[in-house]
Amino acid sequence: MPTLDELIVAFDKGLRTVFGPARSVRAIPGEDLPPQEMSAAQRSRAAALMRVNHTGEVCAQALYQGQALTARNPDSRAALDQAAQEETEHLAWTERRIEELGARKSLLNPLFYAGSFAIGAAAGLLGDRWSLGFLAETERQVVAHLDGHLARLPVEDQKSRAVVEEMKLDEARHATSALQHGGSELPAPAKAAMRVASKVMTETSYWI
Ligand SMILES: [Fe+2]
Ligand SMILES: [Fe+2]
Repeated sequence: MPTLDELIVAFDKGLRTVFGPARSVRAIPGEDLPPQEMSAAQRSRAAALMRVNHTGEVCAQALYQGQALTARNPDSRAALDQAAQEETEHLAWTERRIEELGARKSLLNPLFYAGSFAIGAAAGLLGDRWSLGFLAETERQVVAHLDGHLARLPVEDQKSRAVVEEMKLDEARHATSALQHGGSELPAPAKAAMRVASKVMTETSYWI
């Protein structure tokens, strides 16, 4: 069982993820690109898609923090913590892009954080093999989702596209690393359930 200290630290990280500004150590992809002319409709579509991606990163943080809290093996714990750290960059990039497009983050983020944290903690309790398998499958589904967004983002929005392209490369790497750390392939019903859960998130955070 996690200690009270670990629970407090996890709660603090959650509050900072949902309510605090995220910082990026790496250069923000597409930062040097000149802003492109876009119609109001294009801007609002791009902002909604980037809001979905931001909420996805909030969920990724929560999943990895939840998993790290219940992971048994210190190596897996470190790998999960590392993954969560890297995801804060994505959080910063998407947050900044939403602001540049003149929109706001999803109001549902606290709810999604809590739900994802619980799912992550439950996955961690199943043991490292499944927990890492869950991480790999999450990342694979995120890559597929980001591909879908690249098809929907306006061609003019080169800045958002640069962020999404870079995130896609990172997520694919996270999936590979989880498998290398010993993650198992999840059963098909688990994968299907994950797709349903993420559909709920993507379709609501597009609007709210
Ligand atoms: Fe990410
Ligand atoms: Fe990732």
